[in-house]
Amino acid sequence: MSFERKNIQAMAGYVSGEQPETADVIKLNTNENPYPPGPAVAKALASMHVDNIRRYPPPTAMALRQSLARLHSVQTDNIIITNGGDELLRLLLATFLDTDECVGVAAPSYSLYDVLVAAHGCSMQNFALMPDWSLPTDLAAQLNAAGIKLCFVVNPHAPSGKLTAAAELKKLALEFNGLLVIDEAYVDFVDPPLKHNCVPFVLELENVIILRSFSKGYSLAGLRMAYGLGAKSLIDPMQYKTKDSYNTDLIAQTLARAAIEDQAYASDTWKKVREQREWLRGELSHLRLHTPESQSNFLLAEVPPEFSAVKIYEALKTRGILIRYFNLPRLDNRLRITVGTPEENQKLLTALTAIMAAGGK
Ligand SMILES: Cc1ncc(COP(=O)(O)O)c(C=O)c1O
Repeated sequence: MSFERKNIQAMAGYVSGEQPETADVIKLNTNENPYPPGPAVAKALASMHVDNIRRYPPPTAMALRQSLARLHSVQTDNIIITNGGDELLRLLLATFLDTDECVGVAAPSYSLYDVLVAAHGCSMQNFALMPDWSLPTDLAAQLNAAGIKLCFVVNPHAPSGKLTAAAELKKLALEFNGLLVIDEAYVDFVDPPLKHNCVPFVLELENVIILRSFSKGYSLAGLRMAYGLGAKSLIDPMQYKTKDSYNTDLIAQTLARAAIEDQAYASDTWKKVREQREWLRGELSHLRLHTPESQSNFLLAEVPPEFSAVKIYEALKTRGILIRYFNLPRLDNRLRITVGTPEENQKLLTALTAIMAAGGK
């Protein structure tokens, strides 16, 4: 006998990338920042007093929201702090989706969306990206025709790294009748000359929510902190009705704030990642592992037809190098590689060169 709801019984859980407990693995599989959190975060952690955790934390993380409001030139009412971006995704469904309504996803994309939708008990429809991973130009019309209530678009796209211009997303939001969630988990790694910024939309449009994460850009994946930006009318019901009263803890709020206040350190890590991204992309192409241009901290390499992506993934794993393989349509002949430090990237290339020299499927 099972007490699970029928939809929970029927669904499969999310399979996260491997998280080895040993330090001697080169970990290029879950898109963490290869550089540690900055000195301001270390200092804030060292100066925390154990007495402070006797009391509950600030329920809506006001001090952190104030720092973020200054950073983004929005009001604190436009911000909700969540226990990782994953909690924000769950809150969006809990707050805005009835179980007879349908979610749309520009696919392929972050597979957690499917899992959360299945757990919530509503339905989901995939809207295929173009061969170059761009959004179909008629996406809004497709979404409206299918009666989609909420649509997830990752930008820069995961797993390709392709960036959709802000103007294109604004047009989509204006034409779409539902709620557009722009998942910007990787936006910190976009090249600054592109001056890409979707945040102003939340002050103009009442159907846009932006997801931002501390996990990648701020090197704080272990802390589980993220935030949503949106119109007050979208943020309030999540802030005051559907989120847990104390969804983020005091230590996480304090360290996330220290990270936000030290933009210079974080920006320097983004710059180093971008430089390595371009270098690695060139080196991979010499091995005939071609990757689309990426504005993120990972590259999606297409494996030449005489090789098997899963075999390369496994061969790297036996050499202590983890990358990501997805056994999914359009992705099963590709490998997603997180950009590491120069030393890690060099070791990856040395291993790849040897594995591919040995050849074969
Ligand atoms: C596309 C995308 N969105 C959101 C997240 C959520 O990140 P987190 O829960 O660590 O903030 C991830 C994490 O890998 C991701 O890849």
